[in-house]
Amino acid sequence: MSADLGTRVAGLELKNPVIAASSEATATPEQIRACIGAGAAAVVAKSVNESPAAHANLRAAEYALLDEGLQPRPLGPAQRTDSLFCRSGLLDVELAEWAETLAALDREAAEDSAYVVPSLIVADHDRAVEAAAAFERAGLRWLELNVGAPHASEAAEGIGAGVELVRGVRKAISLPLTVKLAAGDSVTEALAAGADAVCVATRAMGFLPDLETRRPVLGTFAAVGGAWALPLTLYRVAKAHLANPGASIVATNGARDGFDVARLLLAGASAVAFGTAVLTDGPAVLTGAIETLAGYCEEQGADVRDLIGEAARHVQTYEEVAIERRH
Ligand SMILES: Cc1cc2nc3c(=O)[nH]c(=O)nc-3n(C[C@H](O)[C@H](O)[C@H](O)COP(=O)(O)O)c2cc1C
Repeated sequence: MSADLGTRVAGLELKNPVIAASSEATATPEQIRACIGAGAAAVVAKSVNESPAAHANLRAAEYALLDEGLQPRPLGPAQRTDSLFCRSGLLDVELAEWAETLAALDREAAEDSAYVVPSLIVADHDRAVEAAAAFERAGLRWLELNVGAPHASEAAEGIGAGVELVRGVRKAISLPLTVKLAAGDSVTEALAAGADAVCVATRAMGFLPDLETRRPVLGTFAAVGGAWALPLTLYRVAKAHLANPGASIVATNGARDGFDVARLLLAGASAVAFGTAVLTDGPAVLTGAIETLAGYCEEQGADVRDLIGEAARHVQTYEEVAIERRH
């Protein structure tokens, strides 16, 4: 008997817990179809907003893979020990047209029991509310709102951040709503503001001087991530799960394969979003992750739902461990 990989996020049944995260690898219909074809239960499209400054940031985007010695090389297939150091921006699309495009892709995805999810990174509260409503009108079935984009601190303008933005969007739409948070944001507050699910957590900002030129690699501060971030994400997910039992948590930041998906489920996530790995190695990473996870579940004799939060619920305090050791 094969294991049941089904899970539930934001009140929606997903066929498996593997999601393609929003990135430049989910910016076109072809890319989105490729991720659905690779078996992803959901694909979060590249984020949009209305700000010309954010669009200019995407045109100036730059990416470097860093090996374990922090030597930069161009984007391409990555090792588990590599980090991705990059600047990104937001899509320059006409919103109503983009909503129609995504809604058509979502109808296609539904035939594969999958979802295409629009993503908003807001610059202006009222425009964000309007955009969310436009996605709902177009027939989309799920929305992600990113209030924790790491580049917000460096962008001149055009990227907004903060859990307070959630309330207005929540009021305007009845769609299932995932709120993507920065590492320091409160999951409890996001849920109280009306999120049906939280995505924990966006990448951190980094800095890397080039030893030869003595100038910054890429010329700026930039977001950074790698498999090394996984234990940090696992910690945040476990803490969020324990503080908000039953909350729907999507984990992102550091997952590279199906074993990482299993680890994040054990920490309390209901699904896992892959960004960097799809960008560096293509959508086949998603297929590989689903297969590895299926093999792990079979070996363990467990369904995906059995794994969610199991390790987190067995975390002991330092004090409990000390008492046990004394006896
Ligand atoms: C180049 C790049 C562009 C990204 N663009 C977006 C975006 O537009 N919206 C968003 O919510 N997240 C964006 N992200 C974040 C990813 O969706 C993902 O949450 C993050 O990279 C951490 O997961 P990972 O370790 O699998 O990369 C981007 C990440 C990268 C690397």
